[in-house]
Amino acid sequence: MLTEKIKTATLQYHQETEKILIGKMKSMRSLNDYSAILKLFYGYFGGLEQRVDQYIDANNLSDYAGRRKTAALATDIEALGETLPRKAEGGELPTIENELQAFGALYVIEGSTLGGKIISKMVQQHLGITDGKGLSFFDGYGDDTGKKWSAFQQALNNIGMSPEREDAVIAAANDTFAKFRDWLEYKD
Ligand code: HEM
Repeated sequence: MLTEKIKTATLQYHQETEKILIGKMKSMRSLNDYSAILKLFYGYFGGLEQRVDQYIDANNLSDYAGRRKTAALATDIEALGETLPRKAEGGELPTIENELQAFGALYVIEGSTLGGKIISKMVQQHLGITDGKGLSFFDGYGDDTGKKWSAFQQALNNIGMSPEREDAVIAAANDTFAKFRDWLEYKD
C-alpha cells in the first residue's frame, strides 16, 4: 500500500524536520519567536497550497476545501499582531505539475497535523498561552485529526494504483520535505 511505502520513504526527512522544529521551539522565549515559526509555515505552505490547488479539489478529495492551512496560519499570525510574510515561490517549492505530485505535497501538509497537537502543547507550556490565541493552525482538526488522516490515507491509496504512480507521489513528497527543511533552515 502506498501509505506504508510513503511513510518509510520519507521517514528520514520527517526526523530531520522534526528535529529542526523542536530546536526552534526549545529556544522560543516570546510570542515573537513563536510568530517567527508561524511565518515560516505560512511562507512555505502558503506557496505550496497555491500549487496543490491547481490539481486537487472536491472531485479528487471531497473535503479538500476544509483542509487548506494558509488561512488558519494567516489568522494566527495576525492574532499575534504580526504582518504576513511573502510566500515561497519558484525553486523554493517542489515542482507540482500533475495530480500525483499534488498528492505527494499534500501528504506532507496533512501529515503535519499529526505532530501539530504535540507542537500546540509545547507552545502553550513554553509561552503560557491560555486563551488559544495563535494556535488554530497547530490545533488543526482537534479531535477529528485521526479521522481526517484516515480519510486522506484512503484517498492516497486510491490515487497510487501502480508502482509508477506510487513512485511519482513518493518523489514529490520527498521533494516537498527537502525544500521545507531548506526553507526552515535558511529563512531565519
Ligand atoms: C515537532 C515537530 C513534529 C512532531 C513532534 C511530529 C510528530 C509526529 C508523530 C507523532 C507522527 C505519527 C502520528 C501517528 O502515526 O499517528 C507524525 C506523522 C507525520 N508527520 Fe510529523 N511531527 C512533527 C513535525 C512535522 C512536520 C513539520 C511535518 C510536515 C511538514 C510532518 C509530517 C508528518 C507526516 C507526513 C506524518 C505521517 C507519517 C505517516 O505516513 O504515517 N511532521 N508526526
